Amino acid sequence: METYHVPVMLHEVLEHLALKPNGVYVDGTFGGGGHTSGILEAEPSAKVFAFDRDGDAITCGRDVSGKFPGRLFLFRENFRFFRTQLAMERIRKIDGMLLDLGISSHFVDTPERGYNMTLEGRLDMRMNQDEDVITAAELVNEYPESEIRRIIYDYGEEREAGRIAEGIVVERARKPIQTTVELGEIIDRWTRSPHKLKAKARVFQAIRIYINGELEALREALVDATALLNPGGRLAVISFQSLEDRIVKQLFQRYERGCVCPPEFPACVCGRKPSLTVVTRKPLTPSPVEITANRRARSARLRIAEKKGAQG
Ligand SMILES: C[S@@+](CC[C@H](N)C(=O)[O-])C[C@H]1O[C@@H](n2cnc3c(N)ncnc32)[C@H](O)[C@@H]1O
Repeated sequence: METYHVPVMLHEVLEHLALKPNGVYVDGTFGGGGHTSGILEAEPSAKVFAFDRDGDAITCGRDVSGKFPGRLFLFRENFRFFRTQLAMERIRKIDGMLLDLGISSHFVDTPERGYNMTLEGRLDMRMNQDEDVITAAELVNEYPESEIRRIIYDYGEEREAGRIAEGIVVERARKPIQTTVELGEIIDRWTRSPHKLKAKARVFQAIRIYINGELEALREALVDATALLNPGGRLAVISFQSLEDRIVKQLFQRYERGCVCPPEFPACVCGRKPSLTVVTRKPLTPSPVEITANRRARSARLRIAEKKGAQG
């Protein structure tokens, strides 16, 4: 049977979340529930409010819920809106939150979801297939060349974005681009770099991030999590690419500093107080043993911050 997802850096996440008895935790990216189960097993009086925008994760998650009666509350929802959902559950404060960003192995191993660059699948890439958002096929077949170039450059940091966007537009005029393999072949043909696989990975990443609004969701969730954390509560974020890691790093630093006045101001006028302490100056990375056992863990970066204030 396919393993839905092997949780990455589980030991490190549990250690740094500093779980408390009766603590209320949020797992914004439930996936196969590996981290959620770890939290609930490590702290038997804790509760977890878990979110995933993907229907398959929620369906599989029902089995996990059964193991922890009354302690796991699972929502099919974008973590961008976790604060509203918690308010509806009358939860105003939390003791910790985890975001394990990106996609689960289940997505990669299911070619029809459109994330796998080498296995033939429809170009979809929507994390929530019931949401009214465009698919990857619509993007590559209908967007203007300049917009495709911008997306590949901004969200994939791909230097050959211009050539790839041109290739997509030339080739779609001959025949609509319908599958992952067809898109991969276009990238192969139109890039000059010998690192074709890396270019493909960057283009697929860019399209996925764009159509799912991944960076906007991350920014909003970090702001809300910081507001909701109890003093001493911790925020743990695992990212798999530099755009996300940069957002997490900069936001943690901003909240640690508090004041956002320009450095030339003689005194603070913004009045913002520091609200986070960065626990990991440099991101934690998986051990060589973990990477050997699970190659998909190799690019993981874990950052932790703690809410300031007197603990009750
Ligand atoms: C890397 S997996 C998480 C794996 C999980 N930690 C585990 O132990 O199995 C990421 C999951 O987050 C979900 N996801 C990504 N962005 C999301 C968002 N903005 N809102 C809700 N779920 C999201 C994906 O659908 C996917 O199932």
